Amino acid sequence: MPVSEGMIAGLIDLNRADGEGLAAQLTGQLRGLIASGHLGKGRALPSSRQLAADLGVSRNTVTYAFEQLAAEGYLAASHGRRPVVTIDGGERIEGAGTVASSPRSAKPRLSSWASKLQQTDWPMSYQAPFKPLRPGHGDAREFPNEIWGRCLRRSAVWAARRELGSVNRPRLREALAHYLATSRGVRADADQILILPSAQAALTLIAAAVITPGDEVWVEDPGYPGAAAAFRTCGARVSGISLDEQGMRRMPGPAAPTLIFMTPSHQHPTGRLMSLTRRTEFLRASRPGRTWIVEDDYDGEFHYDSRPVPALQGLDAHGRVFYVGTFSKAMTSDIRLGYLVAPPALVSTLEIAQRHIGLIAASHIQEALAEFIADGHFLAHLRRVRRLYHGRRDHLVAGLERHLGEVLSAEVPSGGIQLVARLKRGRADQATVKRLVEAGVVTRALSSLALGKPRDHGLLLGFAAWRENEISAALRTMASCF
Ligand SMILES: Cc1ncc(COP(=O)(O)O)c(C=O)c1O
Repeated sequence: MPVSEGMIAGLIDLNRADGEGLAAQLTGQLRGLIASGHLGKGRALPSSRQLAADLGVSRNTVTYAFEQLAAEGYLAASHGRRPVVTIDGGERIEGAGTVASSPRSAKPRLSSWASKLQQTDWPMSYQAPFKPLRPGHGDAREFPNEIWGRCLRRSAVWAARRELGSVNRPRLREALAHYLATSRGVRADADQILILPSAQAALTLIAAAVITPGDEVWVEDPGYPGAAAAFRTCGARVSGISLDEQGMRRMPGPAAPTLIFMTPSHQHPTGRLMSLTRRTEFLRASRPGRTWIVEDDYDGEFHYDSRPVPALQGLDAHGRVFYVGTFSKAMTSDIRLGYLVAPPALVSTLEIAQRHIGLIAASHIQEALAEFIADGHFLAHLRRVRRLYHGRRDHLVAGLERHLGEVLSAEVPSGGIQLVARLKRGRADQATVKRLVEAGVVTRALSSLALGKPRDHGLLLGFAAWRENEISAALRTMASCF
Protein backbone atom coordinates (compact mmCIF):
# COMPACT_ATOMS: atom_id res chain seq x y z
CA MET A 1 0.00 0.00 0.00
CA PRO A 2 1.59 3.35 -1.05
CA VAL A 3 2.01 5.82 1.77
CA SER A 4 1.71 9.60 1.84
CA GLU A 5 4.74 11.77 2.42
CA GLY A 6 3.70 12.72 5.93
CA MET A 7 3.46 9.04 6.90
CA ILE A 8 6.99 8.11 5.94
CA ALA A 9 8.51 9.17 9.25
CA GLY A 10 5.75 7.29 11.07
CA LEU A 11 6.83 4.04 9.43
CA ILE A 12 10.41 4.39 10.57
CA ASP A 13 11.28 3.01 13.97
CA LEU A 14 14.81 3.79 15.09
CA ASN A 15 16.29 2.31 18.22
CA ARG A 16 19.13 4.28 19.79
CA ALA A 17 20.21 1.32 21.93
CA ASP A 18 20.65 -0.87 18.86
CA GLY A 19 24.34 -1.57 18.19
CA GLU A 20 23.66 -1.19 14.45
CA GLY A 21 23.66 2.64 14.52
CA LEU A 22 20.94 5.05 13.43
CA ALA A 23 22.18 5.66 9.87
CA ALA A 24 22.35 1.93 9.13
CA GLN A 25 18.92 1.35 10.64
CA LEU A 26 17.39 4.18 8.61
CA THR A 27 19.01 2.91 5.41
CA GLY A 28 17.70 -0.61 6.01
CA GLN A 29 14.17 0.53 6.81
CA LEU A 30 13.89 2.88 3.81
CA ARG A 31 15.25 0.09 1.61
CA GLY A 32 12.56 -2.20 3.04
CA LEU A 33 9.79 0.35 2.34
CA ILE A 34 10.92 0.69 -1.29
CA ALA A 35 11.39 -3.06 -1.76
CA SER A 36 7.94 -3.82 -0.37
CA GLY A 37 6.29 -1.30 -2.68
CA HIS A 38 5.24 1.11 0.11
CA LEU A 39 7.34 3.76 -1.63
CA GLY A 40 6.74 3.27 -5.36
CA LYS A 41 8.79 4.24 -8.38
CA GLY A 42 8.77 8.01 -9.01
CA ARG A 43 7.87 8.86 -5.44
CA ALA A 44 9.78 11.85 -4.01
CA LEU A 45 10.94 11.45 -0.42
CA PRO A 46 10.93 14.33 2.07
CA SER A 47 14.03 16.52 2.10
CA SER A 48 16.86 15.39 4.36
CA ARG A 49 16.19 18.42 6.59
CA GLN A 50 12.47 17.55 6.91
CA LEU A 51 12.98 13.84 7.54
CA ALA A 52 15.73 14.55 10.08
CA ALA A 53 13.39 16.90 11.96
CA ASP A 54 10.48 14.40 11.83
CA LEU A 55 12.67 11.59 13.14
CA GLY A 56 14.64 13.66 15.66
CA VAL A 57 18.01 12.60 14.20
CA SER A 58 20.85 14.61 12.69
CA ARG A 59 20.71 15.65 9.07
CA ASN A 60 23.94 13.71 8.46
CA THR A 61 22.17 10.49 9.42
CA VAL A 62 19.49 11.05 6.77
CA THR A 63 22.00 12.22 4.15
CA TYR A 64 24.03 9.07 4.73
CA ALA A 65 20.96 6.90 4.17
CA PHE A 66 19.96 8.76 0.99
CA GLU A 67 23.50 8.56 -0.43
CA GLN A 68 23.78 4.87 0.38
CA LEU A 69 20.43 4.05 -1.26
CA ALA A 70 21.36 6.17 -4.28
CA ALA A 71 24.60 4.21 -4.58
CA GLU A 72 22.62 0.94 -4.42
CA GLY A 73 20.26 2.17 -7.17
CA TYR A 74 17.09 2.55 -5.09
CA LEU A 75 17.02 6.37 -5.27
CA ALA A 76 18.01 9.12 -7.67
CA ALA A 77 19.47 11.94 -5.65
CA SER A 78 20.97 15.18 -6.81
CA HIS A 79 22.19 18.10 -4.81
CA GLY A 80 19.47 20.47 -3.60
CA ARG A 81 16.58 18.23 -4.76
CA ARG A 82 14.49 15.69 -2.94
CA PRO A 83 15.50 12.11 -3.71
CA VAL A 84 13.18 10.09 -5.96
CA VAL A 85 12.55 6.33 -5.83
CA THR A 86 13.82 4.65 -8.98
CA ILE A 87 12.49 1.09 -8.72
CA ASP A 88 9.22 -0.70 -8.05
CA GLY A 89 9.02 -3.18 -5.21
CA GLY A 90 9.52 -6.74 -6.47
CA GLU A 91 11.43 -5.45 -9.52
CA ARG A 92 14.57 -7.41 -10.39
CA ILE A 93 17.77 -5.55 -9.71
CA GLU A 94 20.50 -6.66 -12.02
CA GLY A 95 22.92 -8.97 -10.29
CA ALA A 96 20.98 -8.91 -7.05
CA GLY A 97 17.96 -11.11 -7.76
CA THR A 98 14.49 -10.07 -6.68
CA VAL A 99 14.31 -7.41 -4.04
CA ALA A 100 13.29 -9.18 -0.88
CA SER A 101 10.22 -7.76 0.80
CA SER A 102 11.83 -8.07 4.21
CA PRO A 103 15.60 -8.10 3.95
CA ARG A 104 16.13 -8.52 7.70
CA SER A 105 14.02 -11.66 7.96
CA ALA A 106 15.88 -13.61 5.28
CA LYS A 107 18.12 -16.21 6.97
CA PRO A 108 21.64 -15.77 5.62
CA ARG A 109 23.60 -18.82 4.52
CA LEU A 110 26.64 -19.01 6.77
CA SER A 111 30.06 -20.55 6.32
CA SER A 112 30.73 -23.71 8.29
CA TRP A 113 33.06 -21.63 10.50
CA ALA A 114 30.29 -19.20 11.44
CA SER A 115 27.70 -21.99 11.83
CA LYS A 116 29.97 -23.81 14.25
CA LEU A 117 30.57 -20.57 16.11
CA GLN A 118 26.83 -20.17 16.55
CA GLN A 119 26.63 -23.67 17.99
CA THR A 120 29.08 -22.80 20.74
CA ASP A 121 27.44 -20.45 23.20
CA TRP A 122 30.74 -18.83 24.17
CA PRO A 123 31.62 -16.05 24.85
CA MET A 124 28.34 -14.21 24.45
CA SER A 125 26.64 -16.11 27.23
CA TYR A 126 29.02 -14.66 29.84
CA GLN A 127 28.05 -11.05 30.09
CA ALA A 128 27.88 -10.67 33.83
CA PRO A 129 28.23 -7.20 35.33
CA PHE A 130 31.67 -6.24 36.62
CA LYS A 131 30.96 -6.63 40.35
CA PRO A 132 32.46 -8.70 43.19
CA LEU A 133 33.26 -11.62 42.89
CA ARG A 134 33.37 -11.78 39.11
CA PRO A 135 36.20 -14.16 38.15
CA GLY A 136 38.78 -13.78 35.39
CA HIS A 137 40.31 -10.40 36.23
CA GLY A 138 43.18 -8.76 38.07
CA ASP A 139 42.62 -5.43 39.83
CA ALA A 140 42.86 -2.61 37.28
CA ARG A 141 42.82 -0.12 40.17
CA GLU A 142 46.26 -1.31 41.20
CA PHE A 143 47.83 -0.80 37.80
CA PRO A 144 50.49 1.95 37.64
CA ASN A 145 48.66 4.10 35.12
CA GLU A 146 51.01 7.08 35.48
CA ILE A 147 54.10 5.06 34.53
CA TRP A 148 52.26 3.25 31.73
CA GLY A 149 50.97 6.60 30.46
CA ARG A 150 54.54 7.94 30.28
CA CYS A 151 55.67 4.86 28.31
CA LEU A 152 52.71 5.26 25.94
CA ARG A 153 53.35 8.95 25.43
CA ARG A 154 57.03 8.42 24.63
CA SER A 155 56.26 5.67 22.14
CA ALA A 156 53.49 7.71 20.48
CA VAL A 157 55.78 10.72 20.01
CA TRP A 158 58.52 8.48 18.77
CA ALA A 159 56.12 6.63 16.42
CA ALA A 160 55.17 9.91 14.77
CA ARG A 161 58.78 10.33 13.64
CA ARG A 162 59.44 6.76 12.65
CA GLU A 163 58.98 4.80 9.46
CA LEU A 164 56.51 1.93 9.40
CA GLY A 165 57.99 -1.05 11.16
CA SER A 166 57.65 -4.75 11.71
CA VAL A 167 54.47 -6.51 12.82
CA ASN A 168 56.18 -8.08 15.85
CA ARG A 169 58.34 -5.32 17.33
CA PRO A 170 61.90 -6.59 17.96
CA ARG A 171 62.31 -4.66 21.24
CA LEU A 172 59.20 -6.28 22.71
CA ARG A 173 60.19 -9.71 21.43
CA GLU A 174 63.60 -9.33 23.14
CA ALA A 175 62.13 -8.04 26.40
CA LEU A 176 59.55 -10.86 26.47
CA ALA A 177 62.06 -13.57 25.59
CA HIS A 178 64.20 -12.46 28.52
CA TYR A 179 61.24 -12.23 30.93
CA LEU A 180 59.84 -15.61 29.89
CA ALA A 181 63.24 -17.32 30.18
CA THR A 182 64.04 -15.95 33.62
CA SER A 183 60.55 -16.02 35.18
CA ARG A 184 58.75 -18.91 33.47
CA GLY A 185 61.50 -21.20 32.20
CA VAL A 186 60.44 -20.76 28.55
CA ARG A 187 63.24 -21.50 26.09
CA ALA A 188 62.82 -19.48 22.93
CA ASP A 189 64.63 -17.11 20.62
CA ALA A 190 63.03 -13.68 20.43
CA ASP A 191 61.95 -14.27 16.84
CA GLN A 192 59.79 -17.24 17.86
CA ILE A 193 57.48 -14.79 19.66
CA LEU A 194 54.40 -13.38 17.92
CA ILE A 195 52.74 -10.38 19.52
CA LEU A 196 48.95 -10.57 19.25
CA PRO A 197 45.89 -8.67 20.47
CA SER A 198 44.99 -11.42 22.98
CA ALA A 199 45.59 -15.01 24.04
CA GLN A 200 42.34 -15.87 22.26
CA ALA A 201 43.90 -14.54 19.05
CA ALA A 202 46.81 -16.94 19.61
CA LEU A 203 44.38 -19.88 19.87
CA THR A 204 42.60 -18.80 16.68
CA LEU A 205 45.93 -18.56 14.86
CA ILE A 206 47.11 -21.97 16.08
CA ALA A 207 43.82 -23.56 15.05
CA ALA A 208 44.02 -21.98 11.60
CA ALA A 209 47.59 -23.22 11.15
CA VAL A 210 47.43 -26.83 12.33
CA ILE A 211 43.81 -28.08 12.39
CA THR A 212 42.34 -29.91 9.41
CA PRO A 213 38.58 -30.64 9.67
CA GLY A 214 38.07 -33.98 11.39
CA ASP A 215 41.27 -33.77 13.47
CA GLU A 216 41.03 -34.89 17.06
CA VAL A 217 41.72 -32.30 19.79
CA TRP A 218 41.74 -32.85 23.55
CA VAL A 219 40.84 -30.12 26.00
CA GLU A 220 40.42 -30.07 29.77
CA ASP A 221 36.89 -30.71 31.07
CA PRO A 222 35.82 -28.52 32.77
CA GLY A 223 37.99 -26.06 30.93
CA TYR A 224 38.35 -22.76 29.13
CA PRO A 225 35.48 -22.50 26.63
CA GLY A 226 37.39 -20.12 24.35
CA ALA A 227 39.85 -22.88 23.49
CA ALA A 228 37.18 -25.44 22.61
CA ALA A 229 35.45 -22.78 20.45
CA ALA A 230 38.65 -21.90 18.57
CA PHE A 231 39.36 -25.54 17.68
CA ARG A 232 35.77 -26.56 16.98
CA THR A 233 35.15 -23.75 14.52
CA CYS A 234 38.07 -25.03 12.46
CA GLY A 235 36.37 -28.42 12.23
CA ALA A 236 38.19 -30.29 15.00
CA ARG A 237 36.48 -33.11 16.90
CA VAL A 238 36.99 -31.79 20.42
CA SER A 239 37.00 -34.28 23.32
CA GLY A 240 36.95 -33.25 26.96
CA ILE A 241 39.47 -35.00 29.22
CA SER A 242 38.55 -35.25 32.87
CA LEU A 243 40.75 -33.95 35.68
CA ASP A 244 42.41 -35.42 38.72
CA GLU A 245 44.24 -33.58 41.49
CA GLN A 246 46.99 -32.58 39.02
CA GLY A 247 44.68 -31.23 36.37
CA MET A 248 44.32 -32.93 32.99
CA ARG A 249 44.55 -36.73 33.18
CA ARG A 250 46.91 -38.48 30.88
CA MET A 251 45.00 -40.86 28.61
CA PRO A 252 47.10 -43.99 28.23
CA GLY A 253 44.72 -45.77 25.84
CA PRO A 254 43.73 -43.86 22.74
CA ALA A 255 46.22 -42.70 20.13
CA ALA A 256 47.50 -39.19 20.71
CA PRO A 257 45.39 -36.53 18.96
CA THR A 258 46.54 -33.72 16.65
CA LEU A 259 46.50 -31.23 19.48
CA ILE A 260 46.21 -31.16 23.27
CA PHE A 261 45.19 -27.91 24.97
CA MET A 262 46.07 -27.45 28.63
CA THR A 263 46.54 -24.87 31.41
CA PRO A 264 49.19 -26.63 33.53
CA SER A 265 50.20 -23.68 35.79
CA HIS A 266 46.70 -23.21 37.17
CA GLN A 267 44.14 -25.39 35.50
CA HIS A 268 41.25 -23.24 34.33
CA PRO A 269 38.93 -23.21 36.29
CA THR A 270 40.07 -25.40 39.23
CA GLY A 271 43.51 -23.80 39.68
CA ARG A 272 45.21 -27.23 39.96
CA LEU A 273 48.94 -27.35 39.33
CA MET A 274 50.32 -30.04 37.03
CA SER A 275 53.42 -31.68 38.50
CA LEU A 276 56.72 -31.92 36.67
CA THR A 277 56.24 -35.68 36.35
CA ARG A 278 52.83 -35.31 34.67
CA ARG A 279 54.20 -32.66 32.30
CA THR A 280 57.01 -34.96 31.28
CA GLU A 281 54.56 -37.82 30.72
CA PHE A 282 52.49 -35.69 28.36
CA LEU A 283 55.60 -34.70 26.43
CA ARG A 284 56.69 -38.33 26.11
CA ALA A 285 53.27 -39.36 24.83
CA SER A 286 53.23 -36.67 22.12
CA ARG A 287 55.08 -37.70 19.01
CA PRO A 288 57.09 -34.84 17.47
CA GLY A 289 55.49 -33.61 14.27
CA ARG A 290 52.24 -35.51 15.01
CA THR A 291 50.85 -34.11 18.23
CA TRP A 292 51.04 -30.46 19.24
CA ILE A 293 50.60 -29.29 22.80
CA VAL A 294 49.18 -25.83 23.52
CA GLU A 295 50.23 -24.56 26.94
CA ASP A 296 48.02 -21.64 27.96
CA ASP A 297 49.81 -19.80 30.76
CA TYR A 298 47.12 -17.14 31.15
CA ASP A 299 47.87 -16.29 34.81
CA GLY A 300 51.12 -18.14 35.51
CA GLU A 301 52.66 -14.92 36.92
CA PHE A 302 50.65 -15.35 40.11
CA HIS A 303 51.97 -18.08 42.37
CA TYR A 304 51.68 -17.83 46.14
CA ASP A 305 52.60 -21.01 47.98
CA SER A 306 55.69 -22.32 46.25
CA ARG A 307 58.13 -21.50 43.54
CA PRO A 308 56.44 -21.81 40.15
CA VAL A 309 56.89 -25.02 38.19
CA PRO A 310 58.77 -24.19 34.97
CA ALA A 311 56.72 -24.02 31.80
CA LEU A 312 56.10 -27.24 29.90
CA GLN A 313 57.49 -25.47 26.85
CA GLY A 314 60.92 -25.27 28.52
CA LEU A 315 61.00 -29.05 28.96
CA ASP A 316 60.31 -29.80 25.32
CA ALA A 317 63.36 -30.69 23.24
CA HIS A 318 61.43 -31.38 20.02
CA GLY A 319 59.49 -28.19 19.25
CA ARG A 320 56.05 -29.64 20.00
CA VAL A 321 54.73 -26.95 22.34
CA PHE A 322 52.95 -23.67 21.62
CA TYR A 323 53.25 -21.40 24.65
CA VAL A 324 50.43 -18.84 24.94
CA GLY A 325 50.33 -15.85 27.31
CA THR A 326 48.32 -12.70 27.87
CA PHE A 327 48.77 -9.33 29.55
CA SER A 328 45.04 -9.09 30.28
CA LYS A 329 45.47 -10.67 33.73
CA ALA A 330 49.00 -9.49 34.60
CA MET A 331 48.31 -5.86 33.58
CA THR A 332 44.68 -4.91 32.74
CA SER A 333 42.11 -6.64 30.59
CA ASP A 334 41.79 -3.50 28.43
CA ILE A 335 45.39 -3.59 27.27
CA ARG A 336 44.50 -6.16 24.61
CA LEU A 337 47.92 -7.75 24.23
CA GLY A 338 48.87 -11.40 24.23
CA TYR A 339 51.61 -13.49 22.72
CA LEU A 340 52.46 -16.82 21.27
CA VAL A 341 55.80 -18.59 21.45
CA ALA A 342 55.72 -20.73 18.33
CA PRO A 343 57.53 -24.02 17.71
CA PRO A 344 60.54 -23.17 15.47
CA ALA A 345 59.21 -25.19 12.51
CA LEU A 346 55.99 -23.16 12.43
CA VAL A 347 57.24 -19.61 12.97
CA SER A 348 57.17 -18.49 9.33
CA THR A 349 53.79 -20.16 8.62
CA LEU A 350 52.30 -18.46 11.67
CA GLU A 351 53.78 -15.08 10.76
CA ILE A 352 52.17 -15.29 7.33
CA ALA A 353 48.86 -16.37 8.87
CA GLN A 354 49.13 -13.53 11.38
CA ARG A 355 49.31 -10.98 8.54
CA HIS A 356 46.57 -12.66 6.53
CA ILE A 357 44.12 -12.82 9.40
CA GLY A 358 45.28 -9.37 10.54
CA LEU A 359 45.99 -10.30 14.15
CA ILE A 360 48.39 -7.42 14.62
CA ALA A 361 48.84 -5.31 17.73
CA ALA A 362 49.43 -1.53 17.46
CA SER A 363 53.16 -0.80 17.12
CA HIS A 364 53.30 2.08 19.57
CA ILE A 365 51.60 -0.02 22.28
CA GLN A 366 54.11 -2.80 21.64
CA GLU A 367 56.94 -0.27 22.00
CA ALA A 368 55.45 1.14 25.20
CA LEU A 369 55.22 -2.36 26.66
CA ALA A 370 58.81 -3.11 25.66
CA GLU A 371 59.93 -0.08 27.66
CA PHE A 372 57.61 -0.96 30.59
CA ILE A 373 59.21 -4.42 30.80
CA ALA A 374 62.82 -3.44 30.07
CA ASP A 375 62.78 -0.67 32.71
CA GLY A 376 61.60 -3.10 35.39
CA HIS A 377 58.06 -1.70 35.84
CA PHE A 378 56.37 -4.94 34.84
CA LEU A 379 58.24 -7.06 37.39
CA ALA A 380 57.77 -4.41 40.09
CA HIS A 381 54.02 -4.38 39.38
CA LEU A 382 53.87 -8.18 39.47
CA ARG A 383 55.74 -8.34 42.79
CA ARG A 384 53.33 -5.85 44.33
CA VAL A 385 50.06 -7.38 43.11
CA ARG A 386 51.28 -10.90 43.80
CA ARG A 387 51.48 -10.00 47.52
CA LEU A 388 48.10 -8.31 47.33
CA TYR A 389 46.34 -11.15 45.50
CA HIS A 390 47.91 -13.70 47.85
CA GLY A 391 46.28 -11.88 50.78
CA ARG A 392 42.96 -11.67 48.93
CA ARG A 393 42.99 -15.40 48.16
CA ASP A 394 43.56 -16.20 51.83
CA HIS A 395 40.86 -13.73 52.84
CA LEU A 396 38.33 -15.33 50.49
CA VAL A 397 39.22 -18.87 51.60
CA ALA A 398 38.91 -17.96 55.29
CA GLY A 399 35.64 -16.08 54.68
CA LEU A 400 34.12 -18.95 52.71
CA GLU A 401 34.92 -21.32 55.55
CA ARG A 402 33.47 -18.94 58.16
CA HIS A 403 30.33 -17.76 56.37
CA LEU A 404 29.52 -20.58 53.94
CA GLY A 405 31.36 -23.63 55.26
CA GLU A 406 28.10 -25.59 55.52
CA VAL A 407 27.20 -25.22 51.86
CA LEU A 408 30.43 -24.66 49.92
CA SER A 409 33.84 -26.28 49.98
CA ALA A 410 36.66 -24.20 48.53
CA GLU A 411 39.49 -25.73 46.53
CA VAL A 412 42.54 -23.61 47.38
CA PRO A 413 44.70 -22.95 44.31
CA SER A 414 48.45 -22.40 44.75
CA GLY A 415 48.20 -19.34 42.51
CA GLY A 416 46.06 -17.56 39.96
CA ILE A 417 43.24 -15.06 40.23
CA GLN A 418 40.16 -17.15 41.06
CA LEU A 419 39.04 -20.29 42.86
CA VAL A 420 36.35 -22.93 42.72
CA ALA A 421 33.96 -23.53 45.62
CA ARG A 422 31.96 -26.72 45.20
CA LEU A 423 28.35 -27.09 46.29
CA LYS A 424 28.29 -29.57 49.17
CA ARG A 425 24.72 -30.55 48.33
CA GLY A 426 22.89 -30.67 45.03
CA ARG A 427 23.78 -29.61 41.55
CA ALA A 428 21.91 -26.34 41.18
CA ASP A 429 24.93 -24.13 40.55
CA GLN A 430 23.31 -22.26 37.63
CA ALA A 431 20.22 -21.41 39.70
CA THR A 432 22.51 -20.35 42.55
CA VAL A 433 24.48 -18.03 40.26
CA LYS A 434 21.21 -16.44 39.13
CA ARG A 435 20.06 -15.89 42.70
CA LEU A 436 23.42 -14.38 43.64
CA VAL A 437 23.43 -11.99 40.68
CA GLU A 438 20.01 -10.75 41.73
CA ALA A 439 21.46 -10.11 45.19
CA GLY A 440 24.43 -8.25 43.67
CA VAL A 441 27.20 -10.89 43.73
CA VAL A 442 28.62 -12.13 40.43
CA THR A 443 30.03 -15.65 40.10
CA ARG A 444 30.19 -18.25 37.39
CA ALA A 445 28.66 -21.74 37.48
CA LEU A 446 31.24 -24.50 37.29
CA SER A 447 28.83 -26.62 35.26
CA SER A 448 28.76 -23.93 32.54
CA LEU A 449 32.45 -24.68 31.87
CA ALA A 450 31.85 -28.37 31.16
CA LEU A 451 32.31 -29.60 27.63
CA GLY A 452 29.83 -32.43 27.89
CA LYS A 453 27.57 -33.48 30.72
CA PRO A 454 28.73 -31.54 33.79
CA ARG A 455 30.42 -33.69 36.43
CA ASP A 456 31.16 -30.80 38.80
CA HIS A 457 28.84 -28.25 40.36
CA GLY A 458 30.03 -25.18 42.15
CA LEU A 459 30.94 -21.53 41.83
CA LEU A 460 33.95 -19.89 40.23
CA LEU A 461 34.85 -16.92 42.41
CA GLY A 462 37.35 -14.20 41.55
CA PHE A 463 39.55 -12.82 44.32
CA ALA A 464 42.33 -10.87 42.56
CA ALA A 465 40.15 -8.00 41.33
CA TRP A 466 38.40 -7.40 44.65
CA ARG A 467 39.55 -5.68 47.83
CA GLU A 468 39.21 -7.49 51.13
CA ASN A 469 36.28 -5.34 52.27
CA GLU A 470 34.53 -6.03 48.94
CA ILE A 471 35.12 -9.76 49.36
CA SER A 472 33.75 -9.67 52.93
CA ALA A 473 30.62 -7.79 51.85
CA ALA A 474 30.03 -10.22 48.97
CA LEU A 475 30.40 -13.21 51.31
CA ARG A 476 27.84 -11.78 53.74
CA THR A 477 25.40 -11.31 50.85
CA MET A 478 26.10 -14.84 49.65
CA ALA A 479 25.46 -16.26 53.11
CA SER A 480 22.01 -14.67 53.12
CA CYS A 481 21.17 -16.32 49.78
CA PHE A 482 21.65 -19.97 50.77
C1 LIG B 1 42.39 -19.87 30.40
C2 LIG B 1 42.31 -18.60 29.62
N1 LIG B 1 43.02 -18.51 28.50
C3 LIG B 1 42.96 -17.41 27.73
C4 LIG B 1 42.15 -16.34 28.08
C5 LIG B 1 42.02 -15.17 27.14
O1 LIG B 1 42.86 -14.14 27.39
P1 LIG B 1 42.73 -12.86 26.45
O2 LIG B 1 41.86 -11.90 27.17
O3 LIG B 1 44.13 -12.38 26.28
O4 LIG B 1 42.15 -13.34 25.16
C6 LIG B 1 41.40 -16.40 29.24
C7 LIG B 1 40.51 -15.29 29.59
O5 LIG B 1 39.74 -15.31 30.49
C8 LIG B 1 41.48 -17.56 30.04
O6 LIG B 1 40.75 -17.67 31.16
